[in-house]
Amino acid sequence: MVRGFIQSAFFVAMWGIWSPAGLKADDSPAAATPKSQPIAPTSQARTQLSENAALEKAKPAVGALKKQLVGRLQEAIGKDGAVKAIEVCRTEAGKITAGVSNQTIQVGRTATKLRNPANAPQEWMKPLLEYFERKGGMGNAEPFKIVKLSGDQYGYVEPLYIQPLCMTCHGTKIPADVQAEINKLYPADRAVGYSVGDFRGVAWSIVK
Ligand code: HEC
Repeated sequence: MVRGFIQSAFFVAMWGIWSPAGLKADDSPAAATPKSQPIAPTSQARTQLSENAALEKAKPAVGALKKQLVGRLQEAIGKDGAVKAIEVCRTEAGKITAGVSNQTIQVGRTATKLRNPANAPQEWMKPLLEYFERKGGMGNAEPFKIVKLSGDQYGYVEPLYIQPLCMTCHGTKIPADVQAEINKLYPADRAVGYSVGDFRGVAWSIVK
């Protein structure tokens, strides 16, 4: 089912790429696509993605990522306590980002002072992290930034600020059992010592 979807999406994408090259419908890969496939909207050359169109896609995706993560964290801390919630954060963050991402949009989180090195920033994110760091705490910087990337893609970021909820695991007085679990799972952790309102990192999105 998923595979079928990916295959048909692939054909639709190929059709969009191939048709401007002057191929006739008969010898294009899309000829193999069943009639019922919705090829009409993409059968012309892909129009350039505008910044506004990218924003329209990025904002709800990043919003969903933030909302789902905070929701799961709150629930897990309330139900099982902070030590267990670390595990939730560890496993659920990946699932949530995968759930929100698709073929035309990718989302994730990054920071300068990392907890998990796997969340390291891509090159285009680094100057944006620096911008928010320079601006300091909540309320000083713009609510988002969008930049054009190579290959007709856009990069979008929204700053994440430390809320009271975050303090248990990123604050200045982390409970000993939570700190022990963090040390065990993330021996190179740098994401502690924050106060409420501090800039912590960004939720990012790449729109294709
Ligand atoms: C229960 C503990 C816990 C709480 C509460 C928590 N975090 Fe985290 N945070 C983690 C863990 C664990 C990771 C590493 C997740 C991973 O392995 O990808 C992390 C990673 C991150 C990252 C990704 C970058 C990095 O350093 O790896 C950001 C950004 C982040 N947290 C921000 C926040 C914010 C903002 C809040 C409050 C809304 C918050 N966190 C609350 C435990 C927590």
